[in-house]
Parts: sequence; C-alpha cells; structure tokens
Amino acid sequence: MSLPESIHWLSSASPMNENLQLAFAQFAISQGMLALELPDSDIAKIAVHPFPDTQRHTWSIDPAFLQTPAPQVTHIAGARRYELGSGNTKIRLDLAGASVSVIQNDAVILQSPDTGAFSINADGSLSWRILLEPSDVVLGTGQRTGPLNQRGKKRLLWSADAEPDHSEKTDPMHQIASWVMIVRNGNTFGVFFDSPWRATLDIGATDPNVLTYTTTGTDITAYVCCGPTPAAALEQYTRVTGRPPLFPRWSLGNQQSRWSYMSAAEFEEVGARFRAEHIPCDALYLDIDYMRGFRDFTWDEQAFPDFSQMLQRLRADGFHVVTIIDPGIKVDPEYSAFQEGTQRQYFIKNADGTDFTGWVWPGLSVWTDFSQSAARRWWSNLHKPLFDAGVSGIWDDMNEPSQAGMYAPSDVQLTYGETLPQDAVCKNDDDPISFAEFHNAYGLTMTQATYEAFTMLRPKERPFVLSRSAASGSQRYTAVWNGDNSSIWEHIGMGITMNIGLGLSGFAFTGFDIGGFNKFAEPEMLTRFTQAGVCMPLCRNHAAKFSRKQEPWAFGEPYTSIIRRAIEFRYSLLPLYVSLLKQAHDTGAPIIRPIWWNEPQNKDLLAVNDEFLIGDSILAAPVTQRGATNRRIVFPSGEWFDAATNEVYIGNSVSEYPVTLDTLPIFIKAGSIIPFAPVIQHTGLAYTEPLELRIFIGETTAQARLQLWDDTDAADISDPETYAVYTVEAQAANGAVAVAMQQTQGTMNFRYPGVHCTVVRPGKAGPFSEIKQMHTRRQEFMVVFE
Ligand code: GLC
Repeated sequence: MSLPESIHWLSSASPMNENLQLAFAQFAISQGMLALELPDSDIAKIAVHPFPDTQRHTWSIDPAFLQTPAPQVTHIAGARRYELGSGNTKIRLDLAGASVSVIQNDAVILQSPDTGAFSINADGSLSWRILLEPSDVVLGTGQRTGPLNQRGKKRLLWSADAEPDHSEKTDPMHQIASWVMIVRNGNTFGVFFDSPWRATLDIGATDPNVLTYTTTGTDITAYVCCGPTPAAALEQYTRVTGRPPLFPRWSLGNQQSRWSYMSAAEFEEVGARFRAEHIPCDALYLDIDYMRGFRDFTWDEQAFPDFSQMLQRLRADGFHVVTIIDPGIKVDPEYSAFQEGTQRQYFIKNADGTDFTGWVWPGLSVWTDFSQSAARRWWSNLHKPLFDAGVSGIWDDMNEPSQAGMYAPSDVQLTYGETLPQDAVCKNDDDPISFAEFHNAYGLTMTQATYEAFTMLRPKERPFVLSRSAASGSQRYTAVWNGDNSSIWEHIGMGITMNIGLGLSGFAFTGFDIGGFNKFAEPEMLTRFTQAGVCMPLCRNHAAKFSRKQEPWAFGEPYTSIIRRAIEFRYSLLPLYVSLLKQAHDTGAPIIRPIWWNEPQNKDLLAVNDEFLIGDSILAAPVTQRGATNRRIVFPSGEWFDAATNEVYIGNSVSEYPVTLDTLPIFIKAGSIIPFAPVIQHTGLAYTEPLELRIFIGETTAQARLQLWDDTDAADISDPETYAVYTVEAQAANGAVAVAMQQTQGTMNFRYPGVHCTVVRPGKAGPFSEIKQMHTRRQEFMVVFE
C-alpha cells in the first residue's frame, strides 16, 4: 500500500494574497494553495486547492449567505504563525507545529494533526484529517441507520436508493449532509465540507482519534461552525446552507398515501372514509399509477376521468392532493415532454453526446438535466397542467437518481437502485461536468425546479415539495421522507433515530412511512408506527404496491380508535408545530430534537437514541417494541409532568413506565406553557372552541412562559396582518398563578374564539388542574388563580 503523499506544509507564514476587507488570506503550499477566510465572525472557512486551475461547483450554499458582508477582522502575521480573527473566533496557522486550528474564546475547537493533515492519496482522492478527543460525540451526516453518534463509523456521502429492508449496516441512504456536529465536553461545533463529489467521512473508524474526510473532488472546502451550543452550531450551518421555507399549514396535518390509489372512485372513497371515521386528515397522495403510462405531468383519463373536478371535490372536503413526479421521462416520440426535452437538449448525455437512456417506471427513459438553468425553468413550467387542475403539492421521487427494472424487459440487468453512469455529461449551462460530480446535487436541483414551479406559477401559495434524495442545502426547497422502510418492528425505533439525526443535519421537516412501506403491517405495529409518526414533523402513512392495506381503519377496533387518538393528539399540537416550523425557518433548529439539546454536557442523555423533544419542553418516548407492557424512559433534567395523568417525574432519572396499546408516553417540562388546540378534522376548518393553554408549574419553577407564532398561511409574510406572535407568562406566588397573554407582534386576528387556561401543579390529589375560562381577542389579560 502506498502511503498518502502529504501536501507539504507552508514554507512561510506570510500570505501570498491577503484582503482584510474581504476577510481572507491565501498561502502557497507545496501543491497549490491554502485559503483561510472568515465569512462571518463565528464561521471559519478553510480550503485547500491543490489544483487551483480546476473549476469547483457547489449547489449547497444559500445564495443569501453569499451576500453576507465580511466581518471586521484582525490579523497577526508572524514569521512562524499567522492568525486571522474576528469576534471570538480565530483561524491559526502554526508553521512550527505544521497545523491549522480554529480557536474560539481562546480554546482550540478544531485542530488538524501536525503531520499529513492534508494529503493527495494514491487514487487521486484528497484527504483532510482533524483530531477527535476521546469523549467527542459526532452527529449529523444526514440520513443514517443506527445510533445518533457516528463515532467509529465510516459514512459515504453519496445519495443512494437503499433497500427497504435496511439494517444498521446499510449505508448510504437517500439524504446526505456533508456535515458533522461535534459535542465535546458539553461544547458543540460543526464542520461542513462543501462539495458535491462522492466522499467519505471516516469518523474514528480507522484511527479512533482522527476524523478523515476523503473526497474524489479536486479541492477541500470546509466551513467550521463554532457553536458553542447545538442550536448555535446548527444556526451557523443553516446560515451557510439555508433553512426550510414556511411550508403550508395543511402539510403539518395528517397525510395518507399508497402506491397506488388506482382510480378516482378508490381515491375519493379513502377521503370519505377519513371523514366518516372522524380521523383528521389534510392530504391524500397519488402515486405513479395516476399518470398515463407513467408519463410525468399527465393523468390517466380513464381511471381519473374528471381529474380536476375530483380535486375540487376533495378540496371542498378539506383534502389537499399531492402527486408524485419522477425525473425519468418516458422515451416516446408522441409525448410532448420527451419531444421538447430532446429538441432542447435538456436530458443528460452519454460521454459520446447521445442522450443517456435507462430504465425506470415508464420503461426506457431519459433523465432531465437539472444542472441547466433553462431545463429547470422548463421543468417548473411543466407543472402548470397539474397546478391548473388543482394539485396542491409535488412529491419528487427516484431522484438519487435511481433506475428500477420493474417495468423493464426481463433481459435488463440492473443492480438495486442503480444510478446513472459516472461519465455521463451534465451541461451545467456552459460549463459541462460529469455526472460523478453532479450526482449528489441531482435531487437538490430537481427540488429547486419544483419549488420554483410554485413560486413562478402560484406565487400566492406556499410551496410543498417532498423529496427522497437530498444533500446539504436541499432544505431550502423541500421536505424529505426516509424513502422505503419496511413493516418490521425494528424500523419504528430506527425511524425515530433517523429523523432526530436528520434534524441535526439541517433537515427539519422529515418523517417516515407510517406503517412501513414494504412487507405487511400488523395491527399492533401500525398502531405503534402511528403513535411515533404523529410526533414526526411530516406525518404520512404510505405503503408499497402488493402490500396489505394499512389505512388507519384497516384493522378495525380497538386499533382504529387508538390510531384516531394518536392523530387527534397531533392535531391538538398543531399550534406548536406551526410555531416550531417558523423557528426552523428562522434559525435552523430542528422541530424534533435529541433529549440533550439543552444540556449536551450530560453524557447519559447523549446515549439516548429513541426519545426526543418536540421543541424544548415536550418529551416523547413512543413505544417501539411488540407486546410492550412498559417502556424505559430517560428523563432529562427538570420536573416532567406525564401529559396523561399529570404525575410528576423528577429529571436525571430512568423509569420503567407502564404502557398499554393506547399509550403514547408524553411528558411536559415544568416551567412551560403548551398550547392545545381543539381537534378539527382538517386545517381548513375554523375553530369553534377556545385554545387551551396548559401551564405547568413545578415545585422549583414558579414561572412558565410561551412564545407562540401563528400565521395566515400567506406565502409572503411581510405584512403584519399575516402573522401574530403571542407571549404568555405565568407566575405562581402564594398559592395563586397569574397569567398574562399578549400579542407582541403582528396584527393577525386571533384564530380561536377564546383561550382557556389550565394550571397543572404537582402534589395534589385528584385532577391536578384548576380551570378558569377566559375569552380574549387580541387584548392583554391577567387572571389570578386562587
Ligand atoms: C419508490 C418510492 C415509493 C413509491 C414507489 C412508487 O419506491 O420510494 O415511496 O411508492 O417508488 O412510486
């Protein structure tokens, strides 16, 4: 084995190029250039360009970040050391130690080992090594099976269509983030490696003390997000790569899908059944069979004879319809999308200049080249007939991209999820690139084109795009689901962990197929899948062709009623989910968070993979085991009220919590106020009953507080009439609790006919709450509970 050739370190610590106004400095190294930059005062950028003549490409950076004015910087240019600093952050080059480090508040947070930190490997790939400390916990990297902590793993950064039967050994999956978040002795920082190229993260797998990033690209470009808290690190990472848009309110409701509802009659029957069963639902999905022979942007006139009227009827009953779109276009000279795309050269080419053809649902297909801005615009416009007919959301699938042989002739040999050839060519406007370089950005640019279909064609409504493939930055355009899972018990717990991990990777709006996609769901399993699924940001039941029906009523009683209660619980928490989505949009904070989110110094909590917080104050511990009679629950610090009984659990403890099939263990932190909305059957309905504010006052917490965002669902929220922020404060003293609620921002009308407060305090027999009715419309009020 030949040893990697390390890139010789600097011969001099004097920059060959330095611009303090733009906050950067560049140094000659044995091969090429090392560039240091402070794009913001808490983000350090370190880049190695061994081949400065090659062009680098990225689709991950949020265009808004590029407008950020450079911070004020200082520098120290010594003979042996160079430092570029801003605020509390410094990047230091140390000629003697041959190292580059990032320092915050005088502590080194990131350091490369002193020799061979950067190398060109025998196969031409490039590596950068950074040191790990023994107790470091490493998170992020996107969608992964197994525990949240990535320490000891080797992770491939390559979006892939993984098999539904995936296990802890399966890697990679569909959603890739070239981002690690490192918790070190309670402090948190992160590193984002900005490159679309296939790469690996060896997170202490080979050498336990070293994290090695190895890329097949031609440079290494890393943004070090200095933290120091998990929230700060994610705020910085999503400042660079972008944050989720405000998705429409209906998309936070319950969603139902199946591959496929085959006819208008079957589809409308599903909607009618939701209403008849009084199970809330906001969205129904049409999978590939609604199309005419799997041709995108068409529908089957026979199976769906009055498509537009059908959509109107469903909308009148409160259902938004989401249709699937795949990037593969059927090779069919009679089909306009194929004709136009061929004529305009909008499809990915073979190296010899012919259009690449492969196999997916429509049989022989070509793949749209989303690297071309003109092809993206074309694609956006292709959505017009669907939008005109009344479709509300678009589901972008198979966009790793992946081929499938199901409808191919029997002699076609494809490996599972096979992608396009590496040497295929993407036009990238006038700067052609290989598919090897574009692959990871394929799903991202497809969802960009889809998102822009909404902003171009339906600017007054919020876009809803759901995607399977994603890379760092995709969160600017799309929600993601985990792709094909299975109706197996292991996939409930794995799904929970996967989605906490996605939240730590910048993807806030995510979920799994409730009930499991592949294989046959069973009644108890569907119940547990639903209880966990209603807590996920995206709440959607979906199943494969040939699998057993698994709509909420599929198995009769007692399951239907228990599933209804779980979905009703989700609808009661809608005000909170709306508010948390706004927080994700503003700060990049995930909607569901690991239980150590506010106390990363607590090592016991860092090991918990199957519980999570919804926002800051609700602890959810869904049951994931077959036949469970109890559930082990780790409580973070604080006092936790059982949402079902108001019994108090003192934090930093572990309990064996008894459960029945109907139990979704939920606990609320003392000191918080949780808004509970009356249950409605879909989000289009007006509330006719008051909003309940449940105020949790603990033994050691005399105060509780809530800041709640609400909006009218407008696409543009610059007008104060489109939103409101409510601040609620409660103070307990001398056996009484005073509550004040105030609209502190925006002039939107209060959505509910009133407010109803419930105070929950520990240590009382019987019902622990004292109830007073209050009705308010936008005025401050104060009530004292005797
Ligand atoms: C893929 C998707 C799945 C969908 C199927 C048919 O397997 O992951 O959700 O149902 O294709 O479109």
